[in-house]
Amino acid sequence: YLQEVDNLTDECRELISTLPSEMGWLPMFMHFYQGIWYSTRTLKAILQVQHHFRALDSDIVLVSTPKSGTIWLKAILFSLLNRSYYHSNKKVDHPLLRKNPHELVPFLESLHMLDTNPDLSSFTSPRLFATHIPFGSLPESMKNSKCKIVYLCRNPKDTYVSLWQFTNNLLPKETGTTSPLEETFDKFCRGVSMYGPFWDHVLGYYKASLEMPHKVFFLTYEEMKEKPREQLKRLADFLGCPFSEDEEEVDGGVDEILRLCSFNNLSKLEVNQNGKLSTGHENKSFFRKGEVGDWVSYLTPDMIERIDRITEEKFHGSGLKL
Ligand code: A3P
Repeated sequence: YLQEVDNLTDECRELISTLPSEMGWLPMFMHFYQGIWYSTRTLKAILQVQHHFRALDSDIVLVSTPKSGTIWLKAILFSLLNRSYYHSNKKVDHPLLRKNPHELVPFLESLHMLDTNPDLSSFTSPRLFATHIPFGSLPESMKNSKCKIVYLCRNPKDTYVSLWQFTNNLLPKETGTTSPLEETFDKFCRGVSMYGPFWDHVLGYYKASLEMPHKVFFLTYEEMKEKPREQLKRLADFLGCPFSEDEEEVDGGVDEILRLCSFNNLSKLEVNQNGKLSTGHENKSFFRKGEVGDWVSYLTPDMIERIDRITEEKFHGSGLKL
């Protein structure tokens, strides 16, 4: 299975030979490294991020569990941090109208996938990155610097369904297959999923947010859906760029960002309907339904019971509910 990935370093090759490995949701192996499951390609990138990425005190990093609405928060953070420029230059098109949020806020993993030590000098301060790396495996400089972390997760049942649908889109179209729901569900429950176990990922950042509330901001997709204005204002306060009274009430700054980044708006843009990322992913695959509770249409009562039990056991005593 090591042949799947070009240019594996000797370090990565040797490491993989010592790790538990298992077939993932796609026909590719996954490896269990520092308590988390990664595909071979991702593991290679994680090692590079750990070795080479140097966080600056002014950096802002969005961390999320896959399929928790990362693309939404990328759009929101980008708009929030750049709001004064685009607000005062009405003639300049907002970049979100032409680019997919993944192009504007890159994943550290993607930056380090092709280029082991990428040149980040063109990023202006504050640099905004994203990652799915779990708290325990973050590069040391992210933990030791004053960089800020915004963490996003979502209830496990919607996360699973969204991931299953996304994975199906990645399977070769000509075969017409979908990855079997029961099999991938079993893997998800056992923790064998992209950056899984899901629950350990969430708990790592939840605890960090309690211990270091000035550094780690913990947010759920459901909270964002329920009270977007309130959460956006909390985010702005946390990042040290609070909205003025005028922005909140008079010139509609808060509402304008939410409208621009809404599912309805982003998903209908030409770039997100027909565009592609450099990784080959179709932009439209990141916009499916954008709703809370879609899992009811997919999971059987047995599945619901199993996943709810795991969530209860894993989060027991933490005070966390998802
Ligand atoms: P569904 O598959 O449940 O529809 P990620 O960006 O982490 O891959 O998450 C993708 C999920 O976020 C998908 O969920 C997608 O539809 C949803 N999503 C994308 N853009 C959104 C937006 N602007 N608002 C709300 N949800 C959005």
